[in-house]
Amino acid sequence: MVQISNISGELIKWYEQNKRELPWRDTSDPYKIWISEIILQQTRVNQGLNYFIRFIERFPNIKSLADANEDEVLKYWQGLGYYTRARNLHKAAILIVKDYDGIFPTEYNKIVKLTGIGEYTAAAISSFAFNEPFAVLDGNVYRVISRLFGIETPIDTNFGKKEFARLAQSILSISKPAHHNQAIMEFGALQCIPSSPDCINCPLKFTCRAFELNKVSLLPVKSIKTKVSNRFFNYLFIKFQDSTYLQKRVAKDIWQNLYEFPLIESNHLFDLDELQGDENFKTLFKNIDEVKILKTINPMKHILSHRVIYAQFVIIKVSNENEILKQFIKTSMTEIDKYAISRLMELFIESELE
Ligand code: ADE
Repeated sequence: MVQISNISGELIKWYEQNKRELPWRDTSDPYKIWISEIILQQTRVNQGLNYFIRFIERFPNIKSLADANEDEVLKYWQGLGYYTRARNLHKAAILIVKDYDGIFPTEYNKIVKLTGIGEYTAAAISSFAFNEPFAVLDGNVYRVISRLFGIETPIDTNFGKKEFARLAQSILSISKPAHHNQAIMEFGALQCIPSSPDCINCPLKFTCRAFELNKVSLLPVKSIKTKVSNRFFNYLFIKFQDSTYLQKRVAKDIWQNLYEFPLIESNHLFDLDELQGDENFKTLFKNIDEVKILKTINPMKHILSHRVIYAQFVIIKVSNENEILKQFIKTSMTEIDKYAISRLMELFIESELE
């Protein structure tokens, strides 16, 4: 049986034998660690890896990120989702240049105040880059700890967060915080996985309370099921000669600052009669001699974390431009590539260009 005091030693031993070689593990540069942690917050390692490499190639340091314009940063994020992450990275880089002379702050209390950095990311950067003893607590760590200690407190309550934070800190190796944090996250990602973990071959099985009580599959506990809402997007792919039109989504909403076709949002997907009867539709095409609906692409279901988007793309040919269309960004199919767009838009464009 592994003593509580040596859980960290066992995790680190397991890590040395099983870890994946990843570029952000070869560095103590806080900038690169920061970028990797933000990418990995809501993205799997396999998908995030190429984004990380491309992002660092283009923005190798804080200054280059701060100097870039937001559209370009978003373009490098295209397809990763949760675009607030990219906007916040950019804002924080500008702030580091302004307030810290472009040098990443070394103190946890300063790091945690940067835009887009919460307790988890601040602990990860402080430990990986500066070897400071702050325990990380992400989804993997919640799972490992809830099982090791058999904790049934829901992880999405304030009370649960405090209890897990205390336990995570209590098993942290003070002499090797960086190793410990990498190890416990990797252990959660590869060994103590959400469903059907290979407990028989786990080095901590005799320390694991959930294994002893046959409760591995029941932990961790969550109190609330995330509510999912439905949204209905009628996109208008308007063709005028060789051009089409885009707009920037400026509202504080999904895909903020990404580009898209003119959109009519509704409480269900419109059929063509409903679409043509819609006031926004009528205004959009006022004073246009001929508005020809060529076809409607089959509705697509696009799943985000808290939302399901039902979208259809209606292809419309117009004979002339009115004042309203002139206010949109005029582009061509091949030039859309220059703009940061959602994965949903990308899927439509890929199918159109086939
Ligand atoms: N997920 C979050 N941070 C990570 C890291 N540093 N390595 C692997 N997966 C991670």
